[in-house]
Amino acid sequence: MKVLMVCLGNICRSPMAEGILRHKAKERYPDIVTDSAGTSDFHAGEAPDRRAIACLRSYGIEISDLRARPFETDDFHHFDLIYAMDAENLRDIRKLAPSSELAEKAQLIMSVTEATEQRSVPDPWYGDMENFHYVYRMLDPVMDSLLDELTRQRAKG
Ligand code: 4NP
Repeated sequence: MKVLMVCLGNICRSPMAEGILRHKAKERYPDIVTDSAGTSDFHAGEAPDRRAIACLRSYGIEISDLRARPFETDDFHHFDLIYAMDAENLRDIRKLAPSSELAEKAQLIMSVTEATEQRSVPDPWYGDMENFHYVYRMLDPVMDSLLDELTRQRAKG
């Protein structure tokens, strides 16, 4: 199973999402492949924002090895699941889909859960550490839900 997380810069929300999923999957779903990308190339080649790194480190999760890259059309072929952090990211990546069928692979990450009404993960880039912790608190239970769903599907064969 290959899962891609997407945001605008690929230095805040999507590497946090990837890092949390990678961390949880280590024990629960070790054969998962995780990656993340940005709808822009503003930060291509860069490590995650130092605030994102510090935030996740405080929960015992390391993401300093990740590097930003732009989302590309080929990602629709390469990944089984593609999750956008907000509605604008979703629109931007669906525009690049090779077909309307493949465009459906892209969904909002918050669509994985019904526990909250909030559909978009807010961009913490212009915020402070509390905004990064807010993103963590949103994404952490969602990654459990995603792994629950993947485990259920695998059990069904
Ligand atoms: P992200 O946050 O999309 O969560 O990685 C952003 C990072 C950088 C910029 C915007 C959003 N920027 O405009 O450089």
